[in-house]
Amino acid sequence: MSADPYAYTFPHSDLLSVGGLNPIDLQMIFTRAEEHFARNQGEDKKLGTLKGLTQINLFFEASTRTLASFELAGKRLGADVVNFSAGNASIKKGESLADTALTLAAMKPDLLVVRHGSAGAARFFAQTTGIATVNAGDGAHEHPTQALLDSFTLIQRWGDVAGRRIAIVGDILHSRVARSNIALLNLMHAEVRVCGPATLLPGDIDQWGVSVFHDLDQALEGCDAVMTLRIQRERMSNGLLASEREYGALYGLNHQRLEHAKPDCLIMHPGPMNRNVEISSALADDPDISLILDQVESGVAVRMAILELLAQKAPSMTWQDRVNYREGDA
Ligand code: NCD
Repeated sequence: MSADPYAYTFPHSDLLSVGGLNPIDLQMIFTRAEEHFARNQGEDKKLGTLKGLTQINLFFEASTRTLASFELAGKRLGADVVNFSAGNASIKKGESLADTALTLAAMKPDLLVVRHGSAGAARFFAQTTGIATVNAGDGAHEHPTQALLDSFTLIQRWGDVAGRRIAIVGDILHSRVARSNIALLNLMHAEVRVCGPATLLPGDIDQWGVSVFHDLDQALEGCDAVMTLRIQRERMSNGLLASEREYGALYGLNHQRLEHAKPDCLIMHPGPMNRNVEISSALADDPDISLILDQVESGVAVRMAILELLAQKAPSMTWQDRVNYREGDA
């Protein structure tokens, strides 16, 4: 295999789920992301690899960090980026998804980034428009770039996630982050544990290739990292959770609980956090243990890598033109 990530043609037209990515794809994504991560530390963050391309971020669900992350990623690569988000008129006016898709396609964007409350929405846009589409979260289904940025963050610390024991704690049932992370961590041969109350675990969790725990102290035993998840109040029907206080007492992560894990165990959270519910403020802000801000930083770099790889298929400039442009310094 070539070590040059720019000599590699990404075989996928879209990034809709983690399934379908192979180890070479992952290596290419992470190699590019590393390069972008390093550049993002410096003063000159701009590249021109997406120059001339238009990226539309279509966010039907409210979002701050994911939307900003995709917007920055596109802009740093030189794309023209347009945001349509939950507050925008056409989304509020109840236009059908099919009409929105056809309207946007007529504007000839080259990349679509879609977040929606229903599973399958990003796939629908990809299929209806034929435009390279990134799933930025579809209902409780998948959020592949979050999983990629989580693994990238861990790889930066450890070099590899293979053989590491990682617990995902909390509201697995409603979490697209958990679904994508479980698929990706399994693909990379990590040992994945999930832990939460039975009401917040999917009925078929025994088919997901994870070990299942209801007791947090047991789940943390020997862990190298813990991902704790937000209680997703907006997706929760009544009765799944007795009370947040009780949930916090049983499943809330704090320094004391973490003593059950390995001494150098790291903690992660995709954000936004319910402080002192699923994680104590002191732990979330502990710079020796918490990777939460590293995850945000990794997010821009990983999304830059994904947008670039998908743009290889975009029609308006050849990829070689883009690489030349990049080498000639944008
Ligand atoms: C996650 C999401 O939207 O799925 N957040 C994010 O992408 N920043 C997790 C969550 O909302 O709890």
